[in-house]
Amino acid sequence: MKSLTKAIFPAAGLGTRFLPATKASPKEMLPIVDKPMIQYVVEEAVASGIDEIIIITGRWKRAIEDHFDIAFELEENLKAKGESGLLSEIQRIANMVTLCYIRQKKALGLGHAILCAKNLIMDEPFAVLLGDDIIDSETPALMQLKEVYKKYRTPVLAIQRVKKEDVHRYGVIKGESLGDGVYKVLDLVEKPKPKEAPSDLAIIGRYILTPDIFGILEKTAPGKNREIQLTDGLKEMAKKHPIHAYEIKGKRYDAGDKLGFLKATVELALKNQELGKEFKNYLKSLNLAD
Ligand code: UTP
Repeated sequence: MKSLTKAIFPAAGLGTRFLPATKASPKEMLPIVDKPMIQYVVEEAVASGIDEIIIITGRWKRAIEDHFDIAFELEENLKAKGESGLLSEIQRIANMVTLCYIRQKKALGLGHAILCAKNLIMDEPFAVLLGDDIIDSETPALMQLKEVYKKYRTPVLAIQRVKKEDVHRYGVIKGESLGDGVYKVLDLVEKPKPKEAPSDLAIIGRYILTPDIFGILEKTAPGKNREIQLTDGLKEMAKKHPIHAYEIKGKRYDAGDKLGFLKATVELALKNQELGKEFKNYLKSLNLAD
């Protein structure tokens, strides 16, 4: 079996939960402290051994390409000013990983976005990372999934427990526990009502998939919201061969949601070496207790 070196970043969604900020700007480029959120996720992928990233983009998403490209004028300007620290950070971003871009012409769903990368993946296993799911963890979240993949050699989905009233925002699994946070996936439901949810184990934005998902997605009819849902494809796949899920260790922020974005901003700012102390003092000065 080939090793896992490629990742798809679907980033062509409309970002309606974050309007009006996302009317003309990609939500993946909204900054958390001092980095656009997608950079956190690209860094996680690189730290997990990914060396080629395919970003699925759409209209109004050009800023993502520019962010990971060289910035000639800016670099010359920083050189002239002797800002060597900033210069090397700007250059590091452009040299971090090989990136390629595919346009999804219509936002027809996450499953359809993944299908757009079929010809670049060919017959290899690959990762999928959602650029608005920020996971702060000791071991990078994708690396955690890779460990499970190495053991079982099946697709592996990242999951976390969510409150019953929140299950309608996720794909939810029915799983058989194999211990140590690993589950065999028995069934999946996309955005269930709380009383129809098979568990509180929700799929979050990290996946390791095998290329047979493409053939399945090609035959998957539009489901919830008239979009081609990855969860529906995975449900079909689970009938053909085993899929596993792993409860990720770490704090996950749904930064594509306004409240999730605020939580990520505050908590990551508090951890920031340069700003953390002063920011904490500022928060204390607000006397938030009441
Ligand atoms: P979301 O459900 O977060 O959708 O998609 P969204 O459109 O980005 O945001 P909201 O819900 O309208 O606020 C999950 C992931 O799948 C990508 C999104 O960019 C996001 O990373 N996606 C979704 C696509 O690439 N194409 C699509 O057609 C739909």
